[in-house]
Amino acid sequence: MGETITIRPFRADDTARVIDLLRLALGETPVLRRSPALLNWKHRDNPFGPSVMLVAETGGELVGLRAFMRWDLAVAGGGVVPCGRAVDTATHPGHRRKGIFRALTTQALEAAREAGIRLVFNTPNDKSRPGYLKMGWRDVGPVRVMVRPRLGRVAASRDGLLDPRDALPGATAVDVAGLPSEAPTLDGYPRGVTTRRSPEYLEWRYRSHPTARYATVADGSGAVVLRANVRDGRSEVVVSDVLGTDPGAVLRQAARMARARYLVGTFPAGSRARSLAARAGFVPVPRVAALNLVAHPLDDLPFDPFDPAAWRFVFGDLELL
Ligand SMILES: CC(C)(COP(=O)(O)OP(=O)(O)OC[C@H]1O[C@@H](n2cnc3c(N)ncnc32)[C@H](O)[C@@H]1OP(=O)(O)O)[C@@H](O)C(=O)NCCC(=O)NCCS
Repeated sequence: MGETITIRPFRADDTARVIDLLRLALGETPVLRRSPALLNWKHRDNPFGPSVMLVAETGGELVGLRAFMRWDLAVAGGGVVPCGRAVDTATHPGHRRKGIFRALTTQALEAAREAGIRLVFNTPNDKSRPGYLKMGWRDVGPVRVMVRPRLGRVAASRDGLLDPRDALPGATAVDVAGLPSEAPTLDGYPRGVTTRRSPEYLEWRYRSHPTARYATVADGSGAVVLRANVRDGRSEVVVSDVLGTDPGAVLRQAARMARARYLVGTFPAGSRARSLAARAGFVPVPRVAALNLVAHPLDDLPFDPFDPAAWRFVFGDLELL
């Protein structure tokens, strides 16, 4: 090998070099501009706690990053599992296949255990998935989507972005005080898990994201959080969250008002959220997997992380992280 690779915790003064590395390794999209604001939002200001973050250096150059975002999962029937989400995985293109990802991951897992993390999960792309599977992660399965086609007027996009005011007339800026914290996704399955929601989480997730603009439609008994997006040149409205005891009426209202080609969401099998989405016209798209979930437990858990149905997620739990 020859080169010495040093692994150490991330420091605030690494920010600019880490952003350069992420741009180089992962690229960026209009809605995920790599910036100090995005890095801080994700890894410093997260209400579940600051990320476990390590960098690799060689010859004075920053060549690798490994970050586990803190994330708490609420378990149906009670209990919380502190997790780490493996995100922002990057090795400099000139230093790949030298074991940097492996060394960073091994040390980050140790640091995660020390920080009380009991499970690491993530949605890797095809480049990193083989590496994860070699390092003890196992597949959970695909995240399936439901789509509600629209035939009405479609809002115009500029620079690959859709203005939520055009695409979602009648939706309002997210007002956390008016949002219920509970999600109707944990029901219908005995030992399922979902994000531990709280007003602090909702504020951070849907109001403080540096680039993504979320909007809501709410009534007294439910709320949906929506995001106008462009995917492969097509306008879409993403149902990012479904909250409250009965979000049926607001789901139907969102489906009527959206000026996009279609609305898209993911709703756990057997949940009330899913049956309400079906009543609002959403249909499953069997072959499309939005993401593929993998997991690596570090402890005995109160649920089976390899049971795909145990994960009671909506898009807000997965997207733009
Ligand atoms: C994925 C990535 C982080 C791997 O980094 P790396 O430092 O080159 O990986 P390592 O050399 O430590 O390899 C770790 C293990 O994974 C395997 N591996 C790495 N890349 C692989 C690939 N493309 N295909 C198959 N196996 C791979 C290696 O063989 C190694 O196993 P081994 O030690 O048994 O040989 C790097 O390719 C990268 O930055 N890609 C672009 C960014 C990206 O896609 N990130 C993932 C976002 S989810």
